[in-house]
Amino acid sequence: MISASAPAKVIVLGEHFVVHGARALAASIDRYITVTASLSARDELFAYGRLVRAEHIFNSIDRMVRGRHVKLVVRSQIPNGAGLGSSAALSLASAIAVSKLFNIAPDPSLLFEVSMEAEKHVHGNPSGVDVAASLYGGFVLFKRGELVRVNAPPIRLLVVDSKQRRKTGNLVNRVKKFMDQEPELFNSLVVSADLMAKEGAAAISEGNLEQLASFMNVSQSFLELIGVSTPKIEAIIRGLKGKVLGAKITGAGGGGCIIAIPMPGIVPKTGYTVNAGVAGAYQLNYGNPISGHLNL
Ligand code: MEV
Repeated sequence: MISASAPAKVIVLGEHFVVHGARALAASIDRYITVTASLSARDELFAYGRLVRAEHIFNSIDRMVRGRHVKLVVRSQIPNGAGLGSSAALSLASAIAVSKLFNIAPDPSLLFEVSMEAEKHVHGNPSGVDVAASLYGGFVLFKRGELVRVNAPPIRLLVVDSKQRRKTGNLVNRVKKFMDQEPELFNSLVVSADLMAKEGAAAISEGNLEQLASFMNVSQSFLELIGVSTPKIEAIIRGLKGKVLGAKITGAGGGGCIIAIPMPGIVPKTGYTVNAGVAGAYQLNYGNPISGHLNL
């Protein structure tokens, strides 16, 4: 039996616009999915002690398994449908566990491709940002086909779960409709979101959380404009006024989680540490942390 873990992610800036070519700033967080893989007479995946349908996972790992069968047992600290990248972490942890089981070198491009196949089933048109953040760990500035690691100290973010569950694919389709109706406006938002992600990465590496928070507030207004916010999310954000510097949806929206940067001196009771540097690389056990500019 072999186990592997992959972390959850938050999108700090740029969700949805990244699907349409903008850069997004994302990071792994200290919540994990762990998959244990063993040889079996048939393909089966157990989560919370129950047999779960997961053809998309078995189809994606097909090229590693080559006709053999595996049993996958999943343990998760990541809520489903909450914007924290549970589906990407599941496909990635499964791919890593299976690569270890069959002694396949954990080549990041292969793991990325395999996980993206599973993601396509779940989301239709994924940008890859969820898989990239989980795979490389730390802060990443991601654009389709391209990833730059961002050196920055870990920060503590407040993560509030609206408890509204939704499907990423439906939200991505909603945004596509907005784009078709308002192409010029949408295009200008893509250009601005791209620049904010780049400047947000600079702010995070300089430890300028005020600047980052103001980008997050603008980003929330963009997300409201394209129709992926909800009254509940906006009520939660209003409720955080006076305690946080900035707050926004993270992930596809339509519910899910909100991330916020607490005001200096306010220590949130609940929150996740957003890792910089080695979290994902360590979890994936590559030996050397991956750095620099990578073409996926
Ligand atoms: C989902 O976590 C992020 C989206 O931008 C979709 C994607 O990038 O694939 C909404």
